[in-house]
Amino acid sequence: MFDPTSTSNIPADLEAFWMPFTANRQFKAKPRLMVAAQGMHYTTHDGRRVLDGTAGLWCVNAGHGRQEIVQAVAAQMSQLDYAPAFQMGHPIAFEAATRLAKMFPADLNHVFFANSGSEAVDSALKIALAYHRVKGNGTRQRLIGRERGYHGVGFGGMSVGGIPTVRKFFGGLLGGVDHLPHTHNLEHNAFSPGQPQWGAHLAEELERIVTLHDASNIAAVIVEPVAGSTGVLIPPVGYLQKLRQICDKYGILLIFDEVISGFGRLGTGFATDYWVNPRHCLPSQGDYQCFSPHGGGGGAGGDSSGVHEWG
Ligand SMILES: Cc1ncc(COP(=O)(O)O)c(C=O)c1O
Repeated sequence: MFDPTSTSNIPADLEAFWMPFTANRQFKAKPRLMVAAQGMHYTTHDGRRVLDGTAGLWCVNAGHGRQEIVQAVAAQMSQLDYAPAFQMGHPIAFEAATRLAKMFPADLNHVFFANSGSEAVDSALKIALAYHRVKGNGTRQRLIGRERGYHGVGFGGMSVGGIPTVRKFFGGLLGGVDHLPHTHNLEHNAFSPGQPQWGAHLAEELERIVTLHDASNIAAVIVEPVAGSTGVLIPPVGYLQKLRQICDKYGILLIFDEVISGFGRLGTGFATDYWVNPRHCLPSQGDYQCFSPHGGGGGAGGDSSGVHEWG
């Protein structure tokens, strides 16, 4: 039996847990287990103190073991551990949504809660499709992602994502998806401090895709404002603004996946605060501190036959 208070225990049987994104045989031959965490540091099963340089999986933005968070979660669990969100609710969900909406950029004023970043991405893509449909533009079904993008492991997110190893085992994925080129170019951008000067023109590839398919068939573009999982890629100067302009010109929704860049990661509420406004924003991991699996998305209700009103 594993004793979490001991720093030298490894569970007798590591077999049953099929670990995600992990070389399972190698790991299990030489496990690296974290048994405790405080502040910026983990403690490993063999008693080492390890600096948590990535804040977990980019999701422990407030640091480990924050007592005010532990106590708030425990208090809520004692009072009400679960209430269905179908035709029922509980007050805290509404309060949380109101507070989140105030933090969101620009006119993003509605919150759709999800259980993970992957689910938030797939929900955002579905909301984009449904939005166009209820606005009478049901032919707008195509989705545009970007090479090297990471949007989680749902079928929607894998389809618009652009990391080959995440996609290659899963066949045809969603139909009707195109990819913008990524912005990583060492010849032009190596050693750029801050935003690279080269690369804004890559957003113009969106014009080419629009010409090919016609805007009337395109629902949404989704990108990470700052790409994370592919290796951190800061957007070139002017690139996101150009994407915003082209999307506006053709009535295409622009979705910013801020699952790891949101909630203080870049020194602002959201990465987009530095640049431009999305129509949907998917902040997730940092906001809930990964105590429990959560994700979420913000949507704009300003154009008011907005999709949240369809029911
Ligand atoms: C940009 C982005 N989108 C989506 C996800 C998926 O989030 P989750 O692992 O919570 O499903 C991640 C995860 O790292 C991410 O970095």
